[in-house]
Amino acid sequence: MKKQFSIGLAVLVSAVLFFLPCRSLQAQTDCLSCHGDPTLQDASGKSIGVNADKFHSSVHGSLKCTDCHTNVKGYPHPDNAAVVDCSTCHADEASGIGASVHAKASEHPCLSCHGDPHQIVPKTDPQSSVYPLNIPKTCGTCHGNAALAKKHGLQNVYGLYMDSIHGFAVSKEGLLVAANCTSCHGSHKILSHKDPQSSTYRANIPGTCGSCHVGINEQYQAGIHGKAVAAGNPNAPVCTDCHTAHGIVEPTSADFRMQSTPVCGSCHRDKFSTYRDTFHSQLGLLGGYVQTARCWDCHQAHEILPASDPRSPIAQANLVTTCGRCHAGANASFVQYQPHANARNRKLNPALYYIRLFMNLLLASVLTFFLIHTVLWLIRSHWARLKNGGKHA
Ligand code: HEC
Ligand code: HEC
Ligand code: HEC
Ligand code: HEC
Ligand code: HEC
Ligand code: HEC
Ligand code: HEC
Ligand code: HEC
Ligand code: HEC
Ligand code: HEC
Ligand code: HEC
Repeated sequence: MKKQFSIGLAVLVSAVLFFLPCRSLQAQTDCLSCHGDPTLQDASGKSIGVNADKFHSSVHGSLKCTDCHTNVKGYPHPDNAAVVDCSTCHADEASGIGASVHAKASEHPCLSCHGDPHQIVPKTDPQSSVYPLNIPKTCGTCHGNAALAKKHGLQNVYGLYMDSIHGFAVSKEGLLVAANCTSCHGSHKILSHKDPQSSTYRANIPGTCGSCHVGINEQYQAGIHGKAVAAGNPNAPVCTDCHTAHGIVEPTSADFRMQSTPVCGSCHRDKFSTYRDTFHSQLGLLGGYVQTARCWDCHQAHEILPASDPRSPIAQANLVTTCGRCHAGANASFVQYQPHANARNRKLNPALYYIRLFMNLLLASVLTFFLIHTVLWLIRSHWARLKNGGKHA
């Protein structure tokens, strides 16, 4: 009796050990015996076929169907199959999504980016919807949709990005290290740029761009703007004020050189208006001449320092070098020329002020003289006509 029991137990154990590795395969084949038919549809006509080959070669190929479809045990099925909960195995990603701007997505919160749940491949596979070069298109299915953008009060950023230097590098050059959407926003815990925790929150932007543009961020941090931002000055510029976030163009392009002078000028209004009166700007306006001196040709773009700092390119002692980059013969007397001469300011530029005043007075008196002259002439001509009995003299 005892012996029979032990043999029975041994058989049972070996049977279990024999069948255990096949269990998941067994469970899949059970389900796939019906769902492996790609033409299978439910009563409403929705396709319920699963591509067995693609499923087996996916990251989840070794799972049982029921690891995800937890309340479907066999056939017939329960009235409602439970919604698959990815968080049981991917808690970090799921909690990230739960805290993100995408938490409210009405469809399955994971599939909007990861696609068909039965065909998910590793992110390093070029077929993956989240392979770096495919990410812009994946996000763009929603963020390139004008109606969705309008509904949520967002910019429609996909087109801007695709035409930018980063978008071009990703889509045309296949440059894996160029910035795609997730380089700046993260993947799962994406937050609104109004949230201080967000990588795109104003004060965090230099750090975000600086994760790749290390050298430029160092220069920027050493300059007056970077220091002001770090000290909490909300009026000082971060990278995107000068470059934009999605429509970044090559800074040497004519487009950028023409548009960024007003960008500096949107904050430095007085310096912009004085610059505009000078030869450099007038030249720039005439036919879009791009070689002329723009703000950063004299001030630098990132390590901008006040004139009082001896390292600054606009410190008196450095002007010959600064101007000399373009004016080969520049010397101490040449750099007396004032790039921001303000003829309206008597204290700063007395000579210019009085010249301007004189010219304006001259103009006004000449105009007044001719106005009086014309009026008198009209009266005289009228008088003469009356005297002639209505006939012209
Ligand atoms: C005998 C064929 C058959 C087998 C075996 C079978 N299914 Fe189904 N399954 C169906 C049919 C038919 C439907 C369509 C809806 C219904 O009848 O419940 C369906 C629907 C489903 C749905 C979709 C429910 C919905 O409303 O969207 C899921 C999920 C599902 N099956 C999972 C499984 C899993 C997991 C297994 C294996 C444990 C399995 N099925 C085994 C035939 C089968
Ligand atoms: C990694 C988890 C996971 C695994 C493993 C998995 N599924 Fe699914 N399946 C899903 C998700 C997610 C959906 C979308 C519906 C939902 O959210 O519940 C889905 C939907 C379905 C549907 C409904 C039709 C459809 O395509 O929307 C069927 C049928 C189905 N699965 C069958 C299977 C079968 C059969 C297997 C095993 C060969 C399987 N699933 C394995 C996650 C999984
Ligand atoms: C807004 C788009 C988006 C949504 C929604 C999304 N993901 Fe992802 N996921 C990505 C991107 C992009 C990557 C690849 C880059 C990375 O590793 O961060 C990724 C990678 C992953 C990885 C691989 C992580 C690693 O380190 O290898 C897992 C696992 C994952 N996601 C699970 C999920 C789950 C579970 C959900 C739903 C709770 C989800 N994702 C929702 C965009 C998304
Ligand atoms: C039963 C546990 C389980 C469930 C449920 C599950 N996964 Fe996975 N998932 C895994 C395992 C195991 C891997 C492979 C991990 C590895 O290779 O490092 C994986 C890998 C992944 C990867 C690829 C990571 C990479 O290398 O890029 C993604 C994306 C992913 N899962 C998304 C999902 C989504 C979306 C769901 C819900 C529809 C889901 N998973 C549900 C267990 C699960
Ligand atoms: C180089 C960094 C960078 C890249 C790449 C990037 N973004 Fe942004 N994004 C930002 C910053 C910074 C903001 C904050 C607001 C601003 O400056 O416009 C932002 C804002 C947004 C907004 C909110 C716009 C609004 O009107 O409030 C959305 C949506 C967005 N990005 C989606 C995307 C998508 C989708 C992609 C890829 C196609 C992408 N971003 C690529 C940096 C980036
Ligand atoms: C299924 C559609 C969908 C996909 C795919 C999607 N998003 Fe979104 N996203 C939205 C919606 C809708 C909102 C607005 C959420 C709200 O306001 O409640 C949003 C909001 C955002 C915001 C916040 C804008 C702000 O500052 O307020 C950013 C950033 C963003 N998405 C980036 C991404 C990135 C990056 C990807 C790809 C990895 C992506 N999204 C994929 C639909 C989507
Ligand atoms: C993931 C890394 C990465 C991040 C993050 C990133 N960039 Fe870039 N960026 C690159 C690469 C790589 C190039 C070079 C592309 C090329 O040459 O085709 C580039 C090019 C540029 C250029 C053009 C440079 C030139 O010489 O023409 C500018 C300007 C720029 N990025 C600004 C930014 C700003 C501003 C941010 C933040 C809002 C940012 N980048 C975030 C990787 C990044
Ligand atoms: C005050 C405006 C301003 C700010 C802030 C700014 N940039 Fe620039 N950036 C410029 C200008 C102007 C140029 C063109 C310089 C030139 O042509 O000599 C430039 C050039 C660049 C280039 C091209 C390489 C080069 O040196 O010519 C990159 C990359 C770049 N910036 C990235 C950044 C990053 C990253 C940040 C934030 C850490 C940033 N910029 C902040 C105005 C700015
Ligand atoms: C978003 C607004 C903004 C933009 C755009 C901007 N600046 Fe500034 N700039 C500031 C602020 C604010 C300060 C003062 C910082 C401080 O004193 O802490 C400053 C300081 C300076 C100084 C030092 C002035 C002084 O009085 O000490 C110079 C020079 C300068 N900026 C040049 C530029 C140039 C050149 C550009 C374009 C490439 C530019 N700025 C773009 C806001 C801006
Ligand atoms: C041809 C070279 C040149 C150009 C172009 C130029 N600047 Fe200047 N900038 C100077 C010099 C030199 C000074 C110091 C003497 C002065 O204040 O006139 C100066 C002074 C300044 C100051 C005050 C700095 C301080 O420490 O007091 C600001 C701010 C400034 N410029 C902004 C701009 C802006 C914005 C532009 C473009 C609209 C611009 N500059 C174009 C050469 C230039
Ligand atoms: C990025 C190049 C560049 C820089 C830097 C630059 N200039 Fe110019 N400047 C030009 C160009 C181009 C012209 C028009 C062509 C010409 O006449 O040489 C011009 C014209 C002038 C003129 C009128 C024409 C002339 O040659 O007499 C003066 C004066 C002048 N610059 C002064 C300065 C001073 C002072 C500085 C330094 C504070 C300076 N420039 C920095 C490019 C530059």
